[in-house]
Amino acid sequence: MGSCCVKPKEGNSGDILEENGGNKSPGKKDKKSLISSQGEASKVTRIDSLDMAPGEEELYSKSINLNHFDIVKVIGRGSFGKVYLVQKKDTEQFYAMKVLKKEAISSPSQRLHTIAERRILQEIDSDFIVKLHYAFQNPDKLYFVMDFLNGGEMFTHLRKNVKFSEKRARFYCAELIMALKCLHDNNILYRDLKPENIILGCDGHIKITDFGLSKMNINKEDDLTFTFCGTPEYLAPEIISQKGHDKSVDWWSLGVILFEMLTGKAPFAHKNKQKVLNDVLKAPIPPFKFSENANDLLRRLLIRDPRKRIGYGDRDAEEIMEHPFFECIDWEKLAERNVTPPYIPKVRKQDDLRHIDPMFKEEKVEDTPADKKLRLSEKEKNHFNEFTYSKDTVINSMEVDQNEDALSQILEEREDSFIPASSDELELNI
Ligand SMILES: Nc1ncnc2c1ncn2[C@@H]1O[C@H](COP(=O)(O)OP(=O)(O)O)[C@@H](O)[C@H]1O
Ligand SMILES: [Mg+2]
Repeated sequence: MGSCCVKPKEGNSGDILEENGGNKSPGKKDKKSLISSQGEASKVTRIDSLDMAPGEEELYSKSINLNHFDIVKVIGRGSFGKVYLVQKKDTEQFYAMKVLKKEAISSPSQRLHTIAERRILQEIDSDFIVKLHYAFQNPDKLYFVMDFLNGGEMFTHLRKNVKFSEKRARFYCAELIMALKCLHDNNILYRDLKPENIILGCDGHIKITDFGLSKMNINKEDDLTFTFCGTPEYLAPEIISQKGHDKSVDWWSLGVILFEMLTGKAPFAHKNKQKVLNDVLKAPIPPFKFSENANDLLRRLLIRDPRKRIGYGDRDAEEIMEHPFFECIDWEKLAERNVTPPYIPKVRKQDDLRHIDPMFKEEKVEDTPADKKLRLSEKEKNHFNEFTYSKDTVINSMEVDQNEDALSQILEEREDSFIPASSDELELNI
């Protein structure tokens, strides 16, 4: 069932990439829009120089680089850089381009996260996961060029609607299960499920983006990982308590999201992030009252002991899919995106930005050069040599070389023995 697979490796990569990604046709009409301005992208900015020192060019791909794109608007901001709407000059196709500054991701663990993000985006092929079309770099930055989804973040829609009906929440929850199942089946922990990372296409279906905290090669049920990462409100208790965690952390986060979709608020939300961490560990789950099946699923997802949580163990997603809350879901059809979404965002064309937060759209469009003084040494820059990915170039391999393996090993050993003294030391999105 479903459309989740690992793409063939290099050699076939010419067949992997498509020129036309993202949203193809505008969806049906819908009632109101959060953003009053019908902000369409009209102006484009040309980036003509890669700002490289002599001799540096050969490190970087000539077949695909920043010069092939016009930057249209800022559409998002993440922890390490911005996300832009861009248009490829030759095909006029729109994409989302996530830009990471190398100087911001120079620590070994951040570097590994970035490498994992790049691999997952390239290797996993699912209708519920954003697709990578190109990856390239210049001396200062890394660029991911992905499908542009113009239906807006789930976050935006939740804030606009306050909460969703059970029917709508069930649909999103079911599509999220498809995304997580695909990752788990490929031994990947997602670890960053939150409304900002769930984006609607113009057809009303969702995809998850942002694999910056994901963990690859979780291949045993008892393969516990100890890296501390995520956003406090959505973190599973076992991540906070550093007891080691596995795939069930994503099912806890799914419970938090389901709770938030139905009530308008995550179960543990507060501006003091330390309080959130404490509450996730110990506070009673706030009372809720939905249908009997929704109540039961929430209670089973939000169990603090991962071994007792629904979805724990080998059956993983299957156990959740069998829960009576999803009785009316035809999983075969859902996996094929053959179920009509409960809400279709109103968009007129591919570069219609009405669902993008105005806060970003007002930002000046420029791909600022990194501070020359802060430039990384040649050695550090080379850490990202394997990043580039394009159908037209031979430098698209992400094979793990020996050094990479050794580094992973050292990091994992360090992470396993790392007990944080305070939450300040933890790798949190706060
Ligand atoms: N493919 C995409 N289409 C539309 N918007 C996107 C896309 N990818 C990212 N964004 C927007 O950019 C924001 C930041 O991107 P993300 O990958 O989550 O970065 P970070 O890892 O820094 O959180 C997202 O929350 C989303 O609003
Ligand atoms: Mg994100």
